[in-house]
Amino acid sequence: KLQAVLFDLDGVITDTAKYHFTAWKQMAERIGIEIDSEFNESLKGIERMQSLERILIHGQQEHKYTQEEKERLAQQKNDEYVALLASLTPEDTYPGIKELLQQLRDNGIPAVIASASKNAPLILDALQLRDYFHAIVDPSGIPGKPQPDIFLKAAEQAGADPSCCIGVEDSQAGIEAIRAAGMYAVGIGEENILGPFGADIVYASTRELSLQKLLAAANLE
Ligand code: G6P
Ligand code: MG
Repeated sequence: KLQAVLFDLDGVITDTAKYHFTAWKQMAERIGIEIDSEFNESLKGIERMQSLERILIHGQQEHKYTQEEKERLAQQKNDEYVALLASLTPEDTYPGIKELLQQLRDNGIPAVIASASKNAPLILDALQLRDYFHAIVDPSGIPGKPQPDIFLKAAEQAGADPSCCIGVEDSQAGIEAIRAAGMYAVGIGEENILGPFGADIVYASTRELSLQKLLAAANLE
């Protein structure tokens, strides 16, 4: 029986994945590194400093900066990102999400945020969705996706058995993390991008999500 639904945030609850991409792209351009949307798939779900490392490796600049300089670059990216979040309103919640959260609440099934982002509380407040979540996992100090830890922590906070949880993700690293946690992995996006990473089912849009469909797909009725 389904015990909890664990949600990634960026690219699942709302379209902030595009703001992460914009902010990283601008930062990378300033240091002469080009990033395209295909490379960006490998950044999704990855913690901030780790993302910067990947970008530097991509541009063959991994030995160029001191730790302090790297922290400054990551800070610049985050400032730009947070500025982009300023326009976020409840209308920016992806279609079908609020309905699904309401169905979960009506059925007493906890929803938990399992995101690598330190900006998760800020975003959930801007969307006015915070009350729908039983918990927001604090990602600091735990191994990032594709390691299973964030999802395992989310299950633990919901008091749920991992094998009775569904994880919802738009990123390759996140899908891997859900599977490594022994949970049912729902992808939001494209089958050819998320399928190879182990997604059990992929929906093109959050519009297609419903509790009934999830229960049937995951065989957790
Ligand atoms: C999520 C996003 C990543 C982002 C990471 C850290 O996993 O998918 O693109 O880098 O969170 O976010 P933060 O807001 O803490 O920089
Ligand atoms: Mg995401």
